[in-house]
Amino acid sequence: MALAPPFPPDIFAARRILVLRKMAEIAPGPSVAIFPSTPVAVRNHDVDHPYRADSDLFWLTGFEEPEAVAVLSTGDRPFTLFVRPRDREKEIWNGRRSGVDGAKTAFGADAAFTVDALDKELTEAIAGKGTLFYRIGGVDQGFDARIARILQGLRMRARAGAAAPTRIEDPGQIVHELRLRKRPEELTALRKAVEITRRGHLAAMQTGRPGSHEYEVQAALEREFRGGGGRGWGYYPIVAAGMNATVLHYNENSDPVRDGDLVLVDAGGEVDLYTADVTRTFPASGRFSDPQRAAYELVLGAADEAIANTRPGVSIDELHEGTVRHLTAGMVKLGLLEGDVDKLIKDGAFRRYYMHRTSHWLGLDVHDAGNYRDESGGPRKLEPGMVFTIEPGLYVAPDDEKAPKEFRGIGIRIEDDILVTEGGHENLTAAIPRTVVEVEKTARR
Ligand code: GLY
Ligand code: MN
Ligand code: MN
Repeated sequence: MALAPPFPPDIFAARRILVLRKMAEIAPGPSVAIFPSTPVAVRNHDVDHPYRADSDLFWLTGFEEPEAVAVLSTGDRPFTLFVRPRDREKEIWNGRRSGVDGAKTAFGADAAFTVDALDKELTEAIAGKGTLFYRIGGVDQGFDARIARILQGLRMRARAGAAAPTRIEDPGQIVHELRLRKRPEELTALRKAVEITRRGHLAAMQTGRPGSHEYEVQAALEREFRGGGGRGWGYYPIVAAGMNATVLHYNENSDPVRDGDLVLVDAGGEVDLYTADVTRTFPASGRFSDPQRAAYELVLGAADEAIANTRPGVSIDELHEGTVRHLTAGMVKLGLLEGDVDKLIKDGAFRRYYMHRTSHWLGLDVHDAGNYRDESGGPRKLEPGMVFTIEPGLYVAPDDEKAPKEFRGIGIRIEDDILVTEGGHENLTAAIPRTVVEVEKTARR
């Protein structure tokens, strides 16, 4: 576990000041915000899943150890961190801990306690505050029960002068809004994630030849993600050869790669907890067949159009609608659909071959935090600093008897990570081969 945050502590301190300021705007008067950590998840007997900190807690603190709780307060101790205690024996077995001293010196906490003091200290932190910012139904439902117990205890002590908050607010409305606009240090981490992802996809295209297996392609990706200094992947990679590519969340990654297959790889490396999210689809043989190329060019055209239309003021909904129109018109040209494009869109006929949305926010989480609607409930307009994906696809089920034979079993997705800039956009993942010529060159056998 890192004993210091990945960015200078000032950066996290500035984030907490912003959050406290927003808390005061939303709820004038004394308030407190509580951010628990994700619980450790058991994988199987005596083996845990590798620990990954909760993104909100990490964004606020840079602290990655399990069992931590961050508390922001309008009182005289703005930032309190609860941490696992130093423990010589446990640290010998399981690794170093920051402890309360590290929480203060390395992570800038004004006060730090060990987790066994949680109930007592949280009760004190909450007592007398008019508003509690706590996300019920968030990362740890056991923690919801703890908060409920504390509130109940305070209410029972009302006659003795204890005051429980009368208002509970979701701190996500503050933190997620701030996470949506990426700051320079976050973009640096994202660019590093993109670079190991680029190397991973190059290795994948070179590895996934006929006679190889999906798992070998996965191993090639992971070698670059981890070997390149990242944490590994930011979400479990999808390596889908042939008709497996028509299963949207396929991740068995166990089948052979055969001559004539397209191989769809959706994988992103993670650096400082920021992840890339990139899909490339390449021919195992190194050459697209004519129908594969036609389908690929259609998806690529849709991606290019959406990327070109990305600029401040445009909404993700508009980009999705443009993508649907582009793809639907193409489906008619390819003979996958018949009829009037407007009507096919209105009737949702395109969903037979394109059944997911085109975009999502990207950052610490692959499906990153942030509202997709503005305050009036309308589609949110893009702003400089936002990062999101553009990921059109085309998926023809192998047993789709309505589709021309030559397209059955073809699954294609092209996914890029786009930064909105003042002047328009930057495709962060443009250097990962994506045109037919680039892909065939990289996958040459
Ligand atoms: N890799 C998940 C997604 O593309 O949304
Ligand atoms: Mn995605
Ligand atoms: Mn993806």
